[in-house]
Amino acid sequence: MKGIILVGGKGSRLYPLTISTHKQLLPVYDKPMIYYALSTLMEAGIRDVLVISTEEFVGRYNKLLGDGKKYGMNIEYTYETSSKGIAQAFMLGEEFIGNDDVCLILGDNIFIGDMKSELLFAVKNAEENRRSTVFGYKVPDPERFGVVEFDEKGKALSIEEKPLDPKSNYAVTGLYFYTNDVVKHAYTLKPSARGELEITDINKIYLANDLLDVVTLQDEVAWLDAGTKDSLIESTIAVRDLEKAHDRKYGSPDIEAYKNKWISKDQLLARASELHPSDYAKDLLKFAKAANTKNAKR
Ligand code: DAU
Repeated sequence: MKGIILVGGKGSRLYPLTISTHKQLLPVYDKPMIYYALSTLMEAGIRDVLVISTEEFVGRYNKLLGDGKKYGMNIEYTYETSSKGIAQAFMLGEEFIGNDDVCLILGDNIFIGDMKSELLFAVKNAEENRRSTVFGYKVPDPERFGVVEFDEKGKALSIEEKPLDPKSNYAVTGLYFYTNDVVKHAYTLKPSARGELEITDINKIYLANDLLDVVTLQDEVAWLDAGTKDSLIESTIAVRDLEKAHDRKYGSPDIEAYKNKWISKDQLLARASELHPSDYAKDLLKFAKAANTKNAKR
């Protein structure tokens, strides 16, 4: 399974914050926003990742994450020349995806908490069952999102993009696991009324063919879409409070890499030295120390 992190667009809803930098480079507590999306892919065991940004900012992401070796991964980069919609990612990533299945995550989506079993289910569902998976999350303002309607058995009946009259309170999150034919489907899409190649239209294709599973995320996972001025600060506060409450780090690719055994303890310590004297580096050191004991937490 390959992974794509989509960090294109101008982030114009956050101007002037995003004039001289890019939205998914903005801080969410002590890390750049994109760290969270990358960590989610890593939690799913995805080691091969394409970052899709804009021509102006793609070099900044490269500077931040490099070729992925420091995480024991392969990270590649490309850019969109115009924002034609989220589903364009599969055309831009066609060569990178090759014959593999693919997980797409929007770089402003933040998942905090344990969702390893859901992630591993989605990977297996694609690779073994040839089915695609998206995630539903209960929200108070579903009209801002793709919205999924369920029958009484919890089976998805319909998905609508930003409906005026939502059929449920379940938003479709920006984390999508597809079988390889998603590339072929992307080429069949027509721009929507707002002129975009909609990810919801991809989901509708799988739904119509009964090849889509919608897994609802429970309360132990917090989902935040950090794309607005309020959600940006709310995300920062949520990460700070959850890290303190659970005495662990969220959204750290360094720690995910170590937990996945993609880097050694020495490599983790080397990263801590590289990032010295930041608080993030201190947290890496603390984690490495705790990992020495049997009950090591994240
Ligand atoms: O966050 C989940 C929601 O994301 C889903 O529930 C919706 O179904 C889905 O359409 C999407 O809605 P948004 O209104 O949040 O999408 P937005 O246009 O803000 O795009 C989300 C991110 O994707 C944005 O931060 C940048 C990136 N993007 C978007 C477009 C349209 C690109 O890189 N290129 C694009 O062309």
